[in-house]
Amino acid sequence: MKRAIGFTVNGQPRMVTTDPERPLLEVLREDLGLTGAKYGCGEGQCGACTVLIGGKSAPTCVTPVGDVEGKTILTIEGLSDGEKLHPVQEAFLEEDAFQCGYCTPGLILEVAALLREKPSPTDEEILSALNGHICRCNHYTKILKAVRRAGAKAGR
Ligand code: FES
Ligand code: FES
Repeated sequence: MKRAIGFTVNGQPRMVTTDPERPLLEVLREDLGLTGAKYGCGEGQCGACTVLIGGKSAPTCVTPVGDVEGKTILTIEGLSDGEKLHPVQEAFLEEDAFQCGYCTPGLILEVAALLREKPSPTDEEILSALNGHICRCNHYTKILKAVRRAGAKAGR
């Protein structure tokens, strides 16, 4: 049964009236027009739909919207500071770390969350964070370079 569900997205309070079991990804894309999070596997296995919920990365394809009631969500649309890109976005641009870009929003948010917790992550920590993200373009070498570059910026 539909009900009103309130949460904060990119600093803005939002309210949707919908079935609480609907995937958050669908609500973000179809109801709120935030299409940065992508539909990939639909099973929580590829990372394309990642956003940050309460600062932690989460696959929105398997997150019922009812579960985020009262929580704070950050999507890729809200990561930059106005015109100023987030350091992880800058690093991905500088390293040319995307091809089709389908995996990029989820990856960037995952790395932003990692660097917030660990400004100078080890390679092991980076690989562990990237583990749930699939790049169909097989752009992993440049992605890894971008994450190291972002880590160097964050650790300064
Ligand atoms: S679409 Fe959500 S993890 Fe693949
Ligand atoms: S750049 Fe195409 S899926 Fe990663």
